[in-house]
Amino acid sequence: MISEEEVELKVDFLLKELSLEEKFKLMIGYFRFQTNTIPRLGIKTFKMTDGPLGISRHSSFLRKNTYFPAGINLAASWNRKLAHECGEAIGREARAINRLCVLGPGININRTPYNGRTFEYYSEDPYLNKEIAIPFVKGIQSQKIAACPKHYVANNQETNRHTVSSEVDERTLHEIYLRSFKEIVEEADPWTIMTAYNHVNSEYVHGSSKLLNSTLFEKWGFAGFVMTDWWATRERGVTQPTTEEAVKAGLSIEMPIPILYEKAKLKKAFAEERISLEDIDNLIKRILRVYAKVGMFDDKVNLLKGERNTKRHQDLARKMSEEGIVLLKNENNLLPLDITKIQRIAVLGPNLKKKFGKFLSGGASAVKPPYEITPLQGLKEKCKGKIKILSDPSKADVVLLFMGLNHDSPSKIMSDKTTKSKEEHGYETEGMDRKEFGLNVSQIQLINETAKINPNTVVILINANPVSMDEWLSKIPALVEAWYPGMEGGRAITKVLFGDVNPSGKIPLTFPKRIEDSPAHKTTKTFPGENLKVHYEEGIYVGYRYHEKNNVEPLFPFGFGLSYTTFRFNKVSSDKNSLKSMKDSLELNVSVTNTGDKAGSEVIQVYSEDVKSSVDRPIKELVGFEKVYLEKGETKSVEVIVKSKDLAFYDMETKDWKVESGDFILHIGNSSDSIKLQKKITYKS
Ligand code: BGC
Repeated sequence: MISEEEVELKVDFLLKELSLEEKFKLMIGYFRFQTNTIPRLGIKTFKMTDGPLGISRHSSFLRKNTYFPAGINLAASWNRKLAHECGEAIGREARAINRLCVLGPGININRTPYNGRTFEYYSEDPYLNKEIAIPFVKGIQSQKIAACPKHYVANNQETNRHTVSSEVDERTLHEIYLRSFKEIVEEADPWTIMTAYNHVNSEYVHGSSKLLNSTLFEKWGFAGFVMTDWWATRERGVTQPTTEEAVKAGLSIEMPIPILYEKAKLKKAFAEERISLEDIDNLIKRILRVYAKVGMFDDKVNLLKGERNTKRHQDLARKMSEEGIVLLKNENNLLPLDITKIQRIAVLGPNLKKKFGKFLSGGASAVKPPYEITPLQGLKEKCKGKIKILSDPSKADVVLLFMGLNHDSPSKIMSDKTTKSKEEHGYETEGMDRKEFGLNVSQIQLINETAKINPNTVVILINANPVSMDEWLSKIPALVEAWYPGMEGGRAITKVLFGDVNPSGKIPLTFPKRIEDSPAHKTTKTFPGENLKVHYEEGIYVGYRYHEKNNVEPLFPFGFGLSYTTFRFNKVSSDKNSLKSMKDSLELNVSVTNTGDKAGSEVIQVYSEDVKSSVDRPIKELVGFEKVYLEKGETKSVEVIVKSKDLAFYDMETKDWKVESGDFILHIGNSSDSIKLQKKITYKS
């Protein structure tokens, strides 16, 4: 591994050697996922690949690769270690095919349940978001592969994604939408960042000196390089920044083809002294530094080899799915199914046999795996010789309905004019948002009819966004949220249904009862926007922050998820009761007992309430969590770290994060709505 000092020496050397035209060449993409080479100086192509669910097929010369569960599934696991392992594994797969950058994680906030890309992202909550993203980035980069957190910033819908402006007030922008980017930069040092398609407050990010230079570079100290999203700079009837605006803002690479950075435009701007050599060198330095870090200038024999499609990666994909699955309802302990007692199960539903890992299915993040275990296959493996699998609910002990949403390639969906596809308001896909909150009519009918025939009907949802459950939830005794579970999903779901795995996932976003209850859906101004502006009128009150402040009862609260066992939160203590500076932190010790008759994991969640504040603040906000595994009857004292900086708000006077002196109550529980213990602490600066 080349040292920081060697990196800087190499960068200085190359900077002196490169001609101006060669520098211009380095500022643009080449052949969709690559950059240009300067062979005489050993500058090779920087190959990138789409993530964040694995190495996508379209950006890996049609290779098949390990298909990990969706980002939302990873967040639902509330497991930082798994996030690191997943990042590492994706880094290894990238290494194995000579890619040097993974275009992920996707860390945009889940603002609306209609967003076509919710599955790629993590959460409505910036704390959970960054806590999953930081280890994921570190994992990727541990393999000397550049991570690329995207899409910077306020890219929260697909409708008019290239032209829409997210109109967000400054405090909200920092507190909700920029926060995870900032934390990732400060704690994980990502080597690249991708800008968003949308404008922010009527300014394209790739031309925004405020969002790049002043915020990302100067305030947060980002040392990597910035690239555009693909074809983001194309003229689409909304004014693009000029070449010099993009250069001065800090955009290093325009992907995948030059528009703002066409050679002639750069040359002209330089000749007319609208950009200087120093401006260009600032961008090039950033690029070269990353090239050195990924080992571009190292001897090949010293590079990590990577691995792809190995059992260890496939096992990890299954483990991630198992840990992310959320048990949402389980009346009379219908689940887990007892293999010794059940003789016949009926299995139905549109997602029973569906494979989701298809070419461009869902958009750029699509991974095509060498195999994909569907729910039906998983069940067949488990039930072979023991339980009969049928399709007639009236003849079964239990019925499993595999419902939910769907993703296909955006172009395929748009070209499909049949009534069936119009009726199927279930697409979650890049490039388009959902149009309806409900499942499609045929699924609702199937649930209701089946539940009438057989009261032991379990619904398993395969999707990412919350859906309306008004019409059917009360009719069924059990509900499982399986997200998009990746290539081993069928096995993971089966293990949860039969109790080989005790579910421990918690929803990383609020499930509202009705779409009107979602703060982004008050008017067409707030979603999908009017006159190419979408107004974030809810401000900082996104997700549970809104529900709690306005007393709007959710269907399932943020952080909720059941288990096959029960837990008791006994008591809480801490190593200190007061925090003194923004850099300070304290350690809570939460004693938890597994009071049920099965081993299982619980997520201890800590929310802070600022007792008295000079500004309006949410009722409470997530500031810590830890997942703990307990054998039946076991008690453990679990350490949860709470950092001062996570108690802060963005102060409009100082334009900085601030914690005001005073009391905070830490609420400790197993969902945002189920608080078991409290602890008062003080912040005295
Ligand atoms: C997506 C990005 C993706 C890029 C390259 C864009 O359309 O928004 O997330 O990384 O394409 O495929």
